[in-house]
Amino acid sequence: MTAIESKPDTTTERLPWHLRDNRAPVFDEVTLTDLEVKGSIPPELQGRYVRNGANPQTGHSDHWFVGDGMIHGIEIGEGGANWYKNRYVRTPCYANPGVERMDMYLNTETLKFDYSVGVANTHVIGHGGQILALEEGSFPYVLTNDLDTVGPNDYGGKLATAMTAHPKICPDTGDLLFFGYSSLPPYLVYHRVNAAGELVQSEEISVTGPTMMHDFVVSRNHTVFMDLPAIFDMELAMQGGMPIRWSDDYPARFGVMPRKGTDADVQWFDVDPCYVFHTLNAYDDGDEVVVHGCRLQEIWRASSDIGDPDVAAPEEQLPHMWEWRFNRATGNYTERQLDDRSSEFPRVADSVVGQQNRYGYTMSTSFINGTIGEIFKYDMANGGARTSHVFEKGQVPGEPVFVPAEGATNEDDGYLMTYVHDETTDTSHLTILDASNMAADAVAEIHLPRRIPTGFHGSWIAD
Ligand SMILES: [Fe+2]
Repeated sequence: MTAIESKPDTTTERLPWHLRDNRAPVFDEVTLTDLEVKGSIPPELQGRYVRNGANPQTGHSDHWFVGDGMIHGIEIGEGGANWYKNRYVRTPCYANPGVERMDMYLNTETLKFDYSVGVANTHVIGHGGQILALEEGSFPYVLTNDLDTVGPNDYGGKLATAMTAHPKICPDTGDLLFFGYSSLPPYLVYHRVNAAGELVQSEEISVTGPTMMHDFVVSRNHTVFMDLPAIFDMELAMQGGMPIRWSDDYPARFGVMPRKGTDADVQWFDVDPCYVFHTLNAYDDGDEVVVHGCRLQEIWRASSDIGDPDVAAPEEQLPHMWEWRFNRATGNYTERQLDDRSSEFPRVADSVVGQQNRYGYTMSTSFINGTIGEIFKYDMANGGARTSHVFEKGQVPGEPVFVPAEGATNEDDGYLMTYVHDETTDTSHLTILDASNMAADAVAEIHLPRRIPTGFHGSWIAD
């Protein structure tokens, strides 16, 4: 991971895909009020939409996934937009631009990592009254409601691994369920934090080797790990850049474990080789645990490039909504593709995490194949039937975050929020869609006089 002090000259250098166009970082932190609102913001929405993303402060990063974390938030209340703020997460990497992360991260004598060193760039969630900025190589970073950094959270010294950027919050118990993975043993450790914010279980889980585990999934009674053939490669690590490569020799497995279980309780299922960055959800159905997620046939065989809209990727190389059913009684499993259109960044309503969800939401892959931007809605009660909200040409949406309506009676009574970049004006807005009527115009749009770079994951943090 080599950082370059100066910003690249965009007039003479063909920038890598992840630093071009709206993936280029912004360099100032601003607070904007008096935001232009089109439509009507539902007055029941009281809180803030926050979204994380990689925004390398030097202007350079070796990979889309490794730039400094920047949070973009809009606070909403009483039918209006109070402010937009963008703030870097104050990590040791942010405080030491130009210093290689690994030099601060790994103690070469003890071969121990310092998990307070990270970039906190991938996701931002609320749990236990805290806002947490997450990146899978380090501890979560606590933020204030105003997006200022408090510092890393190691749960009173109990957390001895990194935290995935995709923990799950059980809507029944309030537990925060997560794991940490590492390139050095132990490769995988599972953790449970209770609703009060206490770390109550840490459990080493045996996997084949140093797999890159970006996400996992939980049902009401089970935790499911994905031990897949994207593995850490020391040679690549020595060269700098993303040290992960595809392996044809590494078995692809899903492991199903009771949520309070141990390593000995994990039931492993060999599956067709694949990679899954993001799961949609899981639920228990009799003896079966049903998992939905966005499946790729493989990743990073030749390089870890993500994509380039100038070079259309074949559809079969893109992620598709998929279903796996793992039968704990028989040890058998089935899998099937649910959609022939590719999409990513899957989300369900927070209230159905681990429960049988009827609906799921994703964004189309316009960000890697240059097609028209769409937000997809899947109806799992009808075989995964897809409807969508189609944006105008040049309007590029991100991950759809579901926000329930007040007094909701149906699972899709609520809104979908995401930042949309307008390529014509090079500005962004927050769109608020009616999740129960995908074809309808946006309920409201909150417009900014500047752009928000393409990013990763976000949340609605209600007051
Ligand atoms: Fe992610």
